[in-house]
Amino acid sequence: MVKVAILGFGTVGSGVAEVLTMNADNITRTSGREIGIKYIVDVREFPGSPFEKYMVKDFSLVENDPEVSIVVETIGGVGIAYEFSRRVLMAGKSLITSNKELVATHGHELLSIAKEKGVNYLFEASVGGGIPVLRPLCQCLAANRIEEIYGILNGTTNYILTEMITNGVSFEEALSQAQQKGYAEQNPAADIEGKDAGRKICILSTLSSGVHIYPDYITTEGITGVTLDDVKNAEKLGCKIKLLGRAVMNEEGKPAAYVAPHLVSEKLLISGVSGVMNAIVIKGNAVDEVMFYGPGAGKMPTASAVVADIIDAAKHEKTRKLMSWEDGNEESVADADLLVSRWYVRTTAQVPFEKVEEGVYV
Ligand code: HSE
Repeated sequence: MVKVAILGFGTVGSGVAEVLTMNADNITRTSGREIGIKYIVDVREFPGSPFEKYMVKDFSLVENDPEVSIVVETIGGVGIAYEFSRRVLMAGKSLITSNKELVATHGHELLSIAKEKGVNYLFEASVGGGIPVLRPLCQCLAANRIEEIYGILNGTTNYILTEMITNGVSFEEALSQAQQKGYAEQNPAADIEGKDAGRKICILSTLSSGVHIYPDYITTEGITGVTLDDVKNAEKLGCKIKLLGRAVMNEEGKPAAYVAPHLVSEKLLISGVSGVMNAIVIKGNAVDEVMFYGPGAGKMPTASAVVADIIDAAKHEKTRKLMSWEDGNEESVADADLLVSRWYVRTTAQVPFEKVEEGVYV
């Protein structure tokens, strides 16, 4: 039996324990092995939880137990999660995570340790929640030169914008609903300021360019400045406001990557992506354009992707999946400010703009 430890029993960690238990028969069939939980590490108490018997507070039990070969990190952030992740890999155990901040910030270092130790570091759940997108990008689309990636990469902000557009709900009320539903990060500023989507476009850009694109090298703008007036103005233009992460590759394959709210024509499929759903469009020079769609946040969809990585790691216990990239620096990105775009400007100023059609002034 493959023994797994889960670090962090929050929304995603508890979902992982539930999926492993609920779908145990199916998981045994698809992985060819039984996969069971040995420890759940969390400093909190969970009296009455069906997983109480696995609960421990001491991480070193996991680190020093040779029976545990796969560890799931669902703590989040780059504090203790980073330290534990390094120690898990150094101990020669495969590591699975949904922690996009950690992958975007320390992915190169952690993958290098994984390579040195001959174990796997897998993070499908870090982008798009339950949507399979990283494996398709690295495997199914491997024959392509990737020209552009863009998408709705944050469920919380898409939920907020959808509520504003469809129900006229205020930003604050919609954010509070998203938090109650377990979509938002512990600190929702990362969602609404575009940082979470920024980490995800960094991971996608990194995988497509083969060079680590650090979040510090890209610009991010969130949706805190979007008002109900903007939403109505967009509607007049036949558009919906969507927070997009985008990376356009230059001729050298360097991504011009950024996150910003966009006016998206209602004629485009992605404008219909509502609520917590995410969609990622990948343009390759052979395949043309493909879109991946599904639940981008939430307990069970994210757990679905994490458990799939556990199964993959269990299947590849003796071999390493080829996954690595070079380290990057400021020179690894192209300048997103040089991309040509049309802009929407909201103003209350009385200036002599010329009306060219309903809602469009120049
Ligand atoms: N807070 C994130 C979101 C969770 O809303 O998309 C999934 O990454």
